[in-house]
This record gives sequence, structure tokens and C-alpha cells, in this order.
Amino acid sequence: MTDIRDVDDWATDWDHHHPDWVDDPFPIWDELRNRCPVAHTNRYNEGVWLPTRYEDVTAIAHDTTTFSSGHDGATAGGSVPRGKFPPIHLDPPDHLPVRRALLPFFTPRRMAQWEPAIRAHCDELARSLADRDEVDLARDYAAHIPAAAIAVILGIPASVGEKFRTWMHWLELGDLEVTHRDRALAEMWPYFQEQIDDRRANPSDDLIGHLVAEGIDGEPIDDDTLIRMLVLLLIAGIDTTWGLIGASLWHLAGNADDRRRLVAEPELLPTAMEEFLRSFASVSLYRKVTTTTTVGDVTMEPGDTLLMAFPAACRDPEAFDRADEVLIDRQPNRHVAFGLGIHRCLGSNLARIEIEQALAAWLHHVPEFELRPGAEVTWAEGALRGPRSVPVTIG
Ligand code: HEM
Repeated sequence: MTDIRDVDDWATDWDHHHPDWVDDPFPIWDELRNRCPVAHTNRYNEGVWLPTRYEDVTAIAHDTTTFSSGHDGATAGGSVPRGKFPPIHLDPPDHLPVRRALLPFFTPRRMAQWEPAIRAHCDELARSLADRDEVDLARDYAAHIPAAAIAVILGIPASVGEKFRTWMHWLELGDLEVTHRDRALAEMWPYFQEQIDDRRANPSDDLIGHLVAEGIDGEPIDDDTLIRMLVLLLIAGIDTTWGLIGASLWHLAGNADDRRRLVAEPELLPTAMEEFLRSFASVSLYRKVTTTTTVGDVTMEPGDTLLMAFPAACRDPEAFDRADEVLIDRQPNRHVAFGLGIHRCLGSNLARIEIEQALAAWLHHVPEFELRPGAEVTWAEGALRGPRSVPVTIG
């Protein structure tokens, strides 16, 4: 499915699977912001617009009437299963009740409850890798944190997180080979059905038990919808956070001054984390145009698709001083890595805990590490960005 024809003009033929974009999208986004600022490609779907300026992306995110999230996974390319996954694929008024049902499990207070388990998991993992000479920070470390954290919140043993990770990997491979995607779906549905049946028989106060008991606005949730809500948490929460943790560590492996400063001043970690979120924002999302509208100097028609490039908006010099630099003490930092408006990331509090604990544990156990000379750092392709391999030497 991946088409890596050469790109002559990024403004009219952009491709987020092209190796130049995958390796280093920042100069491309800078060029597009200066030249267009809304680019277009005919490579995917019936064509996809790409707004790249902070101002345009934020305005679109707030206008849910003109820009609908109510498409199905087909818009997003091969790796996302078909059909709607509530609440991310719902528009008002259907969106709010579903979001409200999930919200109690994602408040800062509720998250604080999970923090010790996430900290212990990161600590154990970092400790287990610390005496090696070489580690792949993306594969050996970052990859094993988000899925375990979600498992704990769902009321499932952290070790099952590895199964979740495998499903996400199959979905990603599904971009190239549809049987992988079908294989993931064929395992996910019965697995979550079993979990739901179990919570019905044995009420519990974990997220699945809560949704089974409370429903949406007091109405029971049908099993398919409930499974879709749970699967969304995996799709939205695993590779996204993996990408962020991996990119933050990649930066620290290549920038000794920042790394040493964070080791010496751990109180800077929350500010540094926000800067990593801005600099290496990992997620772009799709919208469908509902009525003829103008963005920048282009006119979009009903049915047109656009990709909300939150990561490009985060690098807009109109919104951030020295936007192309990673400043670990940057303040204020009004990044949009978690989106904004009604679909703003439901899991942002969880993601922040995971990223902060992952970085704190790694820097504590392994204060000295650097990219292995000659090592190839590889990155995910497409609408989700993050390193897939970051080989480092330790000590
Ligand atoms: C660094 C990690 C993460 C990033 C960068 C990120 C980014 C985003 C973005 C940009 C959106 C907006 C979607 C839109 O506008 O269409 C979003 C929505 C969402 N995220 Fe995250 N996310 C992260 C981690 C998580 C985690 C850990 C979870 C939960 C386990 C999660 C669950 C969700 C959900 C459920 C939505 C949909 C909210 C709604 O439609 O109301 N995310 N995320």
C-alpha cells in the first residue's frame, strides 16, 4: 500500500510515507507553512488537505460543524480498523455522553492512583536494562510502558500489555498486508467480550467494570460499542505514547547538555516533558469537510478529507519562539500535541505520567548514554510519528 514515488512538490503531492518525511519532516513542514500554507496530495483516499499553521489547525479543531470527525477508519488508511470508534469518531451531540462516561477514569486525581504502579513498572524495566552495554531505547524500553499502563487501568494484569502491543503491531503491519489487521481484530473482539462477560458476572471498579455497570447516561452500552471504546484506548494510547517516550530519549541520547542538565535538575522534568511533547508531537488526525469552506487560500468542498497536522502546528514559528529548537526550559508552552477542542486527548494525564516516569526512571538508572556510533535510528511512517529503533550505548 505504501507508495514511495518521489515527491517533486510537497505542496501538491505530500506523502507522509516518503522516506524524507519519515526521517525528518520538520524542513518539509517549514517549507509548506511558508509556501501554502495548506498543502494537498492525491496519493491517499480521494485526496487529502494538510493545514500546517498553528492558527489554522486550532481553528479547525474548534469548528466541529464544518470539520467532522464522523468518518470511519477508512479515511485513516489501512492500519485503522473500519467503523467508528467512540468517542473519537463522533460529532456533537453524540460525542459528549461517551466522553463523559470515560472521563472519571482519566482525571488527574484518578491518574494519581495509578502513578505508583506505573513508576514501579518503569523502575523495574530501567533497572533490568541498566547493566547492558547496549540498549534499543525504543524497542527494549519505551515500547513496554504504555500498553502495561493501559492494562492496569482496564483492570487487566500489566503483563497482558504485551498482547496489546502485538495487536497494535499487527494493525500497523495491516497497512501493508490486510491479513495482519484481520488477525488483530479476530483476537481483540473475543478477548474484550470475555472481559465484559467477566465484569457482568463479577462487578469490579476498574474501567471495564465501571462502563459495564454505569453505561452511558445510565443506559447500558451494547457490547460492540463497548469493545470499540476499549479498542480505541489501545489504538489511541499505545503507539502515541511509545513514540513520545522514544523521541524524548532519542533527543537526550543525542544532546548530552540537556541530558546532564535533567540528571542534575530533575525538577525540570515536567517542563522538559512539555517541550518534548511540542517538539516530537506524535499524532495527526483526520477530518471530513461538511460544507464549502476556506482555509488559508484554499477552498474545501463537502466530502473533502484533511489531516490535522498537530505536530506541524507545534513547530510553527508564528506560535513559538525558536520553534525549531528543543528548549527543555521553555515556558510558556501552549503546544497542541494533545489536540484541542472537544476531542482533546482524553488520555493526556495518563500520557504525562507515563512519559515523566519513563524519563525519570531511565535517567536515574542510566544517567550516561549516547546514540551508538553508526546506528540507524528508524521512525514510524504515516499519521503517527515516533522512533521504532534507537540503539544506544550505556555508560
Ligand atoms: C503522548 C501521547 C498521546 C498523544 C500525543 C495523544 C494525542 C491525541 C490527540 C492529538 C487527540 C485529538 C484527536 C482529534 O482531535 O481528533 C487525542 C484524542 C484522544 N486520545 Fe490521545 N494522545 C496520547 C495518549 C493517549 C493515551 C495514553 C490515551 C488513553 C489510554 C489516549 C486516548 C485518547 C482518546 C480516547 C482520544 C479521543 C478523545 C475524544 O474524541 O473525545 N491518548 N489524543
